[in-house]
Amino acid sequence: MSQEDFAYFTEENSAEVVISRIENAEDERMKQIMAVIIRHLHAAVKEIEPTHEEWFKAIRFLTATGHKCDDWRQEYILLSDVLGVSMLVDAINSRRPTGSTENTVLGPFHIQGAPEYEMGANICLDGKGEPMLVHGRITDVGGQPLPGAKLDVWQANDDGFYDVQQKSIQPDFNLRGVFRTGADGKYSFWAVRPKHYSIPTDGPVGAMMKKLGRHAYRPAHLHYIVSKPGYETLTTHVFDPHDPYIHSDAVFGVKESLIVEFHRIDDERTAAAAGIDNPFWNVEFDCVLAPAAT
Ligand code: BEZ
Ligand code: FE
Repeated sequence: MSQEDFAYFTEENSAEVVISRIENAEDERMKQIMAVIIRHLHAAVKEIEPTHEEWFKAIRFLTATGHKCDDWRQEYILLSDVLGVSMLVDAINSRRPTGSTENTVLGPFHIQGAPEYEMGANICLDGKGEPMLVHGRITDVGGQPLPGAKLDVWQANDDGFYDVQQKSIQPDFNLRGVFRTGADGKYSFWAVRPKHYSIPTDGPVGAMMKKLGRHAYRPAHLHYIVSKPGYETLTTHVFDPHDPYIHSDAVFGVKESLIVEFHRIDDERTAAAAGIDNPFWNVEFDCVLAPAAT
């Protein structure tokens, strides 16, 4: 069809008219993406039939979401998280061979430059919470241990906040650490038993969730990024099966394979040797890395 066929905009042909104007886009991928977005956006508007006031409300929401963003806060990522889009994008980009550990959402609280520790170190710098020994093995899909794998781990403290959310309250790099596996592929460190916590609710995304009758909690978890050249980087969590929010994560990050029992251990000698209080908790979580796509 020629340009003249799409010269006049009507309610019926709206999407086609707009799409006809991007015929000469320089970038084919961008053209494809924008055509899909225009088509779906117009279909949504036709289904909703918003009033002018409702449409301006949507514009005001997006404006407020932008205003909430700065170097430390990304309200648009939060929006993508609570709408399940972050998990969907991750699922599309993390199709892996059977047996590989599953990915989940990165979240906004990872930072570069966490301290490197020897295996067995304690990453809890604020002395709060119940100590927890976290350990396991990093292997390939054939079960072979992977030496030289880098583990970057982080978690919220016992009050349910990450260090970056409480800059002058928690020590910098509290509950963060980088570890490298030896020949046996094993890792271990001391952290604290994680608790469920709320994602930030003081912005437009929090207000939207409240209006939608949704809670803002994430079930207790620890974050991992495990990497090694030649393998796909794994971004994942380990979750506590007994958390009250395990079936209703605000950002849809829970996968059944990432739920592992946290055991309570009463062992004075081990606690004394590690310099932590008895009793303590223990979780074992193995990570299986998929070979890098070629
Ligand atoms: C997190 O687990 O750190 C997180 C993930 C998504 C949104 C907010 C927090
Ligand atoms: Fe988290």
